[in-house]
Amino acid sequence: MLAKMLNIQNKYQRPVHTLLIWTSVTFILVGASTYFLSQRPAIDYFPSPKSTPGSPSNATNPLLTEEGIDQLILDHSFPRLGERANFTGLHQLCNSTKWQKHVYWTCTHNMGGLMNVRNMVLNCVRYAIAAGASGLVLPQIEARDPTVLSKLKTGDSQDISFLFDRAWFKEVMQENCEQMELFDRVEDITNYGYAMMPDIISMQALMGQPLGNRHGLLRNKKPEEFRSRFDQVIKAQTRRPNEKFPVIIRLDDKALFSFPPAFDPPAIANNFGFILEFRLDLSGLANIIVDRVRQALNKDDGKFSEYVGVHLRSEADAGKYWASWDELANSTLSVALDNKIRLIYVASGDADGVAKLTRKAEESGIRVVDKWSILSNDEQEFLHPFRFDQQAIVDYLALMRSDRFVGSGQSSFSSHLIMRREFLANVSLAEGNHDDDYGRRDQLAGPGRLGYWDMDWP
Ligand SMILES: *[C@@H]1O[C@H](CO)[C@@H](O)[C@H](O)[C@H]1NC(C)=O
Ligand SMILES: *[C@@H]1O[C@H](CO)[C@@H](O)[C@H](O)[C@H]1NC(C)=O
Ligand SMILES: *[C@@H]1O[C@H](CO)[C@@H](O)[C@H](O)[C@H]1NC(C)=O
Ligand SMILES: *[C@@H]1O[C@H](CO)[C@@H](O)[C@H](O)[C@H]1NC(C)=O
Ligand SMILES: *[C@@H]1O[C@H](CO)[C@@H](O)[C@H](O)[C@H]1NC(C)=O
Repeated sequence: MLAKMLNIQNKYQRPVHTLLIWTSVTFILVGASTYFLSQRPAIDYFPSPKSTPGSPSNATNPLLTEEGIDQLILDHSFPRLGERANFTGLHQLCNSTKWQKHVYWTCTHNMGGLMNVRNMVLNCVRYAIAAGASGLVLPQIEARDPTVLSKLKTGDSQDISFLFDRAWFKEVMQENCEQMELFDRVEDITNYGYAMMPDIISMQALMGQPLGNRHGLLRNKKPEEFRSRFDQVIKAQTRRPNEKFPVIIRLDDKALFSFPPAFDPPAIANNFGFILEFRLDLSGLANIIVDRVRQALNKDDGKFSEYVGVHLRSEADAGKYWASWDELANSTLSVALDNKIRLIYVASGDADGVAKLTRKAEESGIRVVDKWSILSNDEQEFLHPFRFDQQAIVDYLALMRSDRFVGSGQSSFSSHLIMRREFLANVSLAEGNHDDDYGRRDQLAGPGRLGYWDMDWP
């Protein structure tokens, strides 16, 4: 009996050498992962800040409290461009649309880089209006994998406020398109569980186009036919949409560069993009950066009051035929030297590329800064936990306000900046303002513009 018990005990006793082996294995694993993590290229990726608002771990940083952020927003986030937009065209569009009761629209699979997500959300909302859907569930964002940036399809569904100002979107839509009811969640639609057509819709299939995968092929070639084709799909259902059996449309992830803005008259096309504004906290940080850069420049010497913004899109995942680091650096330095500019603001995930540019610029007495070098410790601590695409908001807005801009023609981020800056310059010119004509001073390095740059909303 005793022997038996001892035997059993023996079985469960961990001999000292096993313990040693496990301990060393653990050390090796921890060591290896620390080593490999420190070898990660370019950017630090952090978990979503959602779970840590006002983290109490550091009470000395006001930006980690709700009051602190509210104050930052109040002090730095206004005014925004959208406040100057004219939504009368949108208002008229919604007023003249034939709306369909019990047909609802959702925009869920908006994924990829910041500007691609923006384009997809706008297209999805524009299609919802074109379809006459009497209800829209607030668009969501599928966040990409924080550690493998090329992995876009993650099922990691985030609220619209992940990137955009939710309250602004709701306000603008309710004010100008009241015929389309907004729902916070699909569950808020009556009888959503009985909805017809739960399959995901491919816009290309609906339009009878080839199911192209490449961005340039997603363009809707006959937007004027969309409504009649959509109505036929609704008619083909077993019963007419009604309260008990509504229709809920879900688009697939190919709405990117699908709706041609030029289909709409300028009164709509030139303003529609402003139904989306970026989230207020990160917009405020961008303004802080620009204000500090301008203060520093003015203090240095009144003569050198401008800065060049560059989107150094030379990260490892950039395409082979895209503008290279050499081309981007060369254009940026040329623009700076030709115009006697002493400061470059760089946005890039390519840390080595930034370091190289910094060294090269130094030879000509030009300083290179980025968001991290300008923000205070508290501000950095606040910004750090945000994801790559959220942090890109700060860069986008800082680049938008730069005096000159250099980017890669193959990047939708750069391409959109060029377009929006040109658009804003046009608006400013039309208002008789001839000195902030910055849109015409911009330059795309490397091979020309994207073939579908006209498919984005200003
Ligand atoms: C809305 O459309 C109706 C005609 O359908 C028109 O009488 C009315 O003026 C329009 N309202 C606006 C604000 O455009
Ligand atoms: C807004 O747009 C409408 C329609 O294009 C136009 O008639 C109106 O004059 C514009 N309002 C302002 C203030 O520019
Ligand atoms: C850019 O490239 C051209 C042609 O190779 C060269 O002549 C020029 O010096 C370069 N500019 C800068 C600022 O490096
Ligand atoms: C708290 O914030 C201050 C200022 O940003 C920083 O210096 C300090 O390291 C932070 N402390 C902790 C525990 O994170
Ligand atoms: C700016 O104005 C020019 C000249 O009228 C026009 O060709 C161009 O398309 C406008 N750009 C944008 C982005 O609206």
